[in-house]
Amino acid sequence: MIEVQHLYKSFDGRDVLMDINMVFRDGQTNLIIGQSGSGKTVLMKNIVGLFTPTRGKVLYDGRDFVTMAKKERVMLRREMGMIFQSAALFDSMTVLENVMFPLDMFSDMNEADRIRRARFCLERVNLKGAEEKMPGEISGGMQKRVAIARAIALNPKYLFCDEPNSGLDPKTSLVIDDLISSITHEYGMTTIINTHDMNSVLGIGESILYICDGHKEWEGSKDEIMTATNEKLNSFIFASDLLRKVKEESLPQPLPRRGETPAPELREEPTQEN
Ligand SMILES: Nc1ncnc2c1ncn2[C@@H]1O[C@H](COP(=O)(O)OP(=O)(O)OP(=O)(O)O)[C@@H](O)[C@H]1O
Ligand SMILES: [Mg+2]
Repeated sequence: MIEVQHLYKSFDGRDVLMDINMVFRDGQTNLIIGQSGSGKTVLMKNIVGLFTPTRGKVLYDGRDFVTMAKKERVMLRREMGMIFQSAALFDSMTVLENVMFPLDMFSDMNEADRIRRARFCLERVNLKGAEEKMPGEISGGMQKRVAIARAIALNPKYLFCDEPNSGLDPKTSLVIDDLISSITHEYGMTTIINTHDMNSVLGIGESILYICDGHKEWEGSKDEIMTATNEKLNSFIFASDLLRKVKEESLPQPLPRRGETPAPELREEPTQEN
């Protein structure tokens, strides 16, 4: 479990994140959603330690990541796996070598065991047979799967994915979502995914944090999102007419059109967190 408490981040006096509070539970997919520029990547970078919060706490199963000793931080980093927006594979290494890389760097396994582990991870993402290929020879979706295999090579407790579906078609995106989701459930990992893919939100959004202009605006599940009354959330997520229709069918009353003031009963009560 990862907890973010009263987290603020500013750059040169410009506030990017303000008072973010969230619990990311293990064994489920935790999504962070929000418009481009809302602060998703900055939040994830604060959580994984690529940025230091201006204020606030990041707790990994109760361990304070911001104030812990450097040595402890290094150890904790080994429990994290990351998948970046671009698959970020090493072009001059084969698929197998890419997956072996974290094992070469951070494990004390012998070579035969490292190869065995890398092959196992590649099989887990259905890439058996692609071991000797170069990243340039495989498709974007396959590259993402290699990135997932590499991220899970060290058996991480915490998995971070920043826009794992960017650049992929909807069907391949589903394959990646299903893979991340099933690995998360299988290994009980705490998985955090940044996305603005609505298919992912409605497909694997077991827990969803919606950020708007650096503020936490809403939290809930994919089921709750269908009946949520938060105006900003609804205009973000149900921006397209198609999604608006889907939502309207699950609501007793129609949603206001963009630009219209919602009926008072559809307005969300301000909460203390907001
Ligand atoms: N290193 C930095 N220095 C200064 N400002 C930054 C830095 N990194 C990000 N920002 C600013 O923080 C804000 C949030 O950026 P962020 O990358 O977190 O958005 P995002 O929600 O991930 O957007 P996208 O969906 O496009 O990836 C932006 O205004 C961005 O310019
Ligand atoms: Mg981003």
